[in-house]
Amino acid sequence: MNKIIVAKIGGSVFSDKSKPYSLRETIIHRLSEIFGKVSKENTLALVLGGGSHGHAIVQELLEKHGKLENWHVPIINRVMEKLAMKIVGLMEYNDLRPLIIHPHSTCFFAKNSYQCNFEVAVQAVKRKIHILSYGDAIVSDRGAYILSGDDITVELALKLGIDRIFYLSNVDGIMDQTGRVIKETSLNYLLNNITITGSSGIDVTGGMRKKVESLTKLTKGTEVCIVNGLKPEIVRSALLGTRCKGTLIHV
Ligand SMILES: Nc1ncnc2c1ncn2[C@@H]1O[C@H](COP(=O)(O)OP(=O)(O)O)[C@@H](O)[C@H]1O
Ligand SMILES: [Mg+2]
Repeated sequence: MNKIIVAKIGGSVFSDKSKPYSLRETIIHRLSEIFGKVSKENTLALVLGGGSHGHAIVQELLEKHGKLENWHVPIINRVMEKLAMKIVGLMEYNDLRPLIIHPHSTCFFAKNSYQCNFEVAVQAVKRKIHILSYGDAIVSDRGAYILSGDDITVELALKLGIDRIFYLSNVDGIMDQTGRVIKETSLNYLLNNITITGSSGIDVTGGMRKKVESLTKLTKGTEVCIVNGLKPEIVRSALLGTRCKGTLIHV
């Protein structure tokens, strides 16, 4: 059965966010194996977070210049492109060769919102071509704008008309005040009743809080499955549609 699977691979999965520019190659290999298998019968739309790569370069630029300027856009792009190429290179071992969609050449930010032309992405996926995009810096009317992998995931899901999306992160799901993983919930309940904060590592895009907030843009009825990407077996069963062994959110 051919499904379109939209999945965001959190930076906290492929890198250690407490170590700038680190890469968890073993995890990437194991996830690539899974994605490779899943890609035989489904079309993948994958999105990478910035990890300790994107977030580190942004933080370095902020420390040096106080704010992000448009001329920083290509500097951040290089870091993210290199990261994407490395990960795609590792995916090739599992016969997975996604078409890379570069946000810096398809999106811009103006008048309080961003716009992306993902027509190529949509046309590719329609033809069963796997795609991969990533969190990136884009040109804007107020200096470089950081478009997070979370935002791109939502944007792609909307443009592809997908009703279930996956987030791989470094936690077993969204936890309540007592530290217990919430298995199934509505987005409204999460936003109004659960304390969700930023990230435990370096993250310039608002961590778990912003991730959950960005889901409000999705079409009502969409399901979001957040699972631990550091546990590949759990990722496999989620992608294959057996069970979301993490947090299932009904938008
Ligand atoms: N209620 C919560 N449940 C789970 N994680 C939370 C919660 N509040 C904050 N977090 C933090 O969010 C982090 C995941 O967000 P983030 O670092 O942005 O991940 P990613 O790299 O996958 O985008 C977790 O590691 C955790 O520290
Ligand atoms: Mg994040």
